[in-house]
Formats: sequence, structure tokens, C-alpha cells
Amino acid sequence: LSSAPPVVLAEKYFQINILLMFQNPCHDVRHIRIWSHNKSCEQLPRFLVIGPQKTGTTALYAFLSMHPNISSNIPSPETFEEIQFFNGRNYYRGLSWYMDFFPLVKNTTAQFLFEKSATYFDGELVPKRAHALLQHAKLVTILISPSKRAYSWYQHTRAHGDPIALNYSFYDVISASDTAPKVLRDLRNRCLNPGKYAQHLERWLTYYTPQQLHIIDGDQLRSNPIEVMDQLQKFLKITPVFNYSNHLRYDPKKGFFCQVLNGDHTKCLGKGKGRLYQPMEEKAYKLLQRYYLSHNTALVKLLRRLGQRTVPQWLKDALTDT
Ligand code: A3P
Repeated sequence: LSSAPPVVLAEKYFQINILLMFQNPCHDVRHIRIWSHNKSCEQLPRFLVIGPQKTGTTALYAFLSMHPNISSNIPSPETFEEIQFFNGRNYYRGLSWYMDFFPLVKNTTAQFLFEKSATYFDGELVPKRAHALLQHAKLVTILISPSKRAYSWYQHTRAHGDPIALNYSFYDVISASDTAPKVLRDLRNRCLNPGKYAQHLERWLTYYTPQQLHIIDGDQLRSNPIEVMDQLQKFLKITPVFNYSNHLRYDPKKGFFCQVLNGDHTKCLGKGKGRLYQPMEEKAYKLLQRYYLSHNTALVKLLRRLGQRTVPQWLKDALTDT
């Protein structure tokens, strides 16, 4: 009897698509009993900020991190504040790899662990994987106009020197056909796909209950973060409530709210957040209005079904402009 070497066997295992799915060891006493002694059920996040990218997730992350009872993961050497565990290849690095981002800190007041990975929002497998491990976690998402989000992503890739974004106009990118070069289609897809909000939220809602999901209007986060953070604390049931009005202030130079330091100074996000760029071309705007019409219509229906009392202004505008 002979067998292939372990690495070959492992590759075969993943090829035939047996879905690896980490369950929460803390949900079964038998699993806790055989679990490593240096692991703790406290080492997993209680809520996830799932994105999508370019909606203000870094600002939300920074504001949450100011709260004395909330802590995020330690930074990743590869992806900085984001762990990006449930999407992509990191998942195969295993549960211990993930939990090492949440070291046990003795005598801490920070009972609320969270992680923010903005790519989770539109990842096919993410809701299923996240739910298998963190079925009681709460989810926080931020939505802005999907057209604005697409344009912000394009500007982001340009600022990072992406040759495709530098060589093609935004309109060229979003209107690229399925016969266009792959690199162009990839950029088009990263601009357009995350903005199909209803579709992605429905996938999360096949695993999580509506009561576990909190939707933030990204325009409100930008213009009135104090109110947004108050509502978020209510949703998370965090006490005592942190008074953000003493800790956030509008910085006219940055054009955004920033953290107050020592009473008179502010600490704003870096220049990669809140970039200055030309307004979107009219024809790109019109194309996106048409492109997102069905998705935005589905989103309004979804928000109503979820019992959201108010529909974001950008969504109302998107549906009346067309
Ligand atoms: P732009 O740089 O296109 O303006 P993310 O952190 O998810 O990548 O989102 C980046 C976006 O957050 C920025 O996009 C900016 O508009 C928005 N944002 C919201 N509040 C902000 C704040 N207080 N400081 C900086 N950017 C903020």
C-alpha cells in the first residue's frame, strides 16, 4: 500500500473542493476540552466591519479604535489593519493564525474585539465561512452611492500607480466590454461589482439574521460621525457610552472629521483617505446611473424589508435622477 506525499494529498484535497470550514470550538464542550490551553473563547471578534472598500471603512475603524472598551486585531505585516481571513488564501492558514491577531490582554477594559476587512463584503464564501466560526457576531457595513464608490476605487488604483487605471479613463474602464483585455476587465469588475449592494447583502442574510446587521449611511458617517457612532454603540449594546462629541471635530483643512488630540490639535487620516480628484465625467455618471438602477431598486426594497426607517439621500437621488 502506498500513498502520495502529504503536500500532494493536501493539494488534491483542495482541488476536489472539499470545503474547509472552521467551526467555533467554543460552541461545543467536547471541542473546548481538547483545545490548546493557550487558546480562549475571548480571542474571537464580537463584530465585523465588512466593508465594502472605499465607503469610509478606515474612518470607522479609527473612530471605533478610540473607544476605551473596543479593540481591534493587531496589525498584519501584509495587509496592515485588515486581516482578510475569510476571503482569499489566508483562510487556509488556519484558525490559530487568525486567533493570533487577537492576543489575550490581561486586565483590559476592552471587551469588544472587532476586525475590519473591507473585502469581506463581496466575497462569495465570506458569509458562510464567517458564520461557521462567528455565528453570534454582529456585522457592520457602510453604504455610499455605488457610483461614487466605483470612482473612488478607480482613483485609489491610479494613486497606487496601476498602469491600467493610469492609461484608461474612468469611462473606458466602466464601459469595457467582455472582450476587453483581462487586466481592464478585472479593474472594471473591482470598480463595479462591490456596488451591487443588495445582491451581496442578501448573501450575508442567508447566514445572519437582520438583527445582527447594522447598515451605516456613509454620507452620514462623513458629515455627522458623532451621531453615527452613538447609533452604532446602541446597536452593539456597549456601555458606558463613549461621548464622541468630545473626541471628533471637523477639520476644515482636511475637509473631514478627525480625532481631537490634547484639546486643540486634530489627528486626521492620511492623504490616501479623502483624496482630491476631478469630479466624475457626466457620461460616466449617466452610465453608472443606468447600470446601478436595478441594484439600487433592489436595495430600497431590501432596506424596507429590513425595517430601516430612513432611506439614504444618495439612494433616493439615484432613483429619482434616472
Ligand atoms: P476618497 O478618498 O475617495 O474621498 P475606505 O477607508 O473604505 O477606503 O474609504 C475611503 C473614503 O472614506 C474616502 O474616499 C473618503 O471620502 C471617506 N471618508 C469618510 N470619512 C472620512 C474621514 N473622516 N476622513 C477621511 N476620509 C473619510
